[in-house]
Amino acid sequence: MAYTLNSVVPWGRTLDEYENMFALTQADLQKKIISFGDGPASFNAEMTAIGNTVLSIDPIYQFTAGQLRQRIDETCIEVINQTTANQENFVWDTIKSVEELKEKRMGAMERFLADFEEGKHQKRYLTHSLPAPTSFLDDEFDLGLSSHFLLLYSNLGLDFHQQSINEMMRICKEVRIFPLVNLNAEKNEFIDSFLIALQSDYFTEIVKVAYEFQRGGNQMLVIKKR
Ligand SMILES: C[S@@+](CC[C@H](N)C(=O)[O-])C[C@H]1O[C@@H](n2cnc3c(N)ncnc32)[C@H](O)[C@@H]1O
Repeated sequence: MAYTLNSVVPWGRTLDEYENMFALTQADLQKKIISFGDGPASFNAEMTAIGNTVLSIDPIYQFTAGQLRQRIDETCIEVINQTTANQENFVWDTIKSVEELKEKRMGAMERFLADFEEGKHQKRYLTHSLPAPTSFLDDEFDLGLSSHFLLLYSNLGLDFHQQSINEMMRICKEVRIFPLVNLNAEKNEFIDSFLIALQSDYFTEIVKVAYEFQRGGNQMLVIKKR
């Protein structure tokens, strides 16, 4: 995937959404966490504000807050229009309308933008594109999270996913991935092959969680070392 600013469609979620997507307990929140493909989510900013430790990695962190703000303003209407056109693919019980969705996402991204330059300086936001190897030690993180990154973009292919998960599992004791559906809210085409390949090296478990916005997207994949 080429990372020109024009190819980025920023969209970010909040700490309460991460808590529900990944069934994060208070004990989990205090772990050393890395969040892959964290984009403009407010997870890192909100976690840092309550004294927890998150490192976020994403290729979009190569851009400045000003560039990302401009891109968010350019693309928000397009994403909202697409969501409006495909409303039947979403469950509108927690987030009750497209207007509320826009408010929540823009609020999360504002929170991210306000934290971004300081967070980059503090090395909480790291520019990195998987599956390239990271500089972290084996098992350096207790928990790795992937929200709306791995498995969502099935067009990236099985090899991309296998190489990325190998690096993620090298540096994390446990990885959780949400959701298990693709961008069209359909079961990811290659999840069965992905799971079979993982099972030779890791324990895997599919867990139902208390978060469903994409219809049918209410499961996370938990992967642990054997
Ligand atoms: C839909 S956004 C999800 C953002 C955030 N995790 C959330 O749920 O709010 C997907 C993110 O994956 C990032 N991404 C895409 N390709 C990546 C790669 N090869 N390595 C790491 N992150 C990547 C994108 O830049 C984008 O920020």
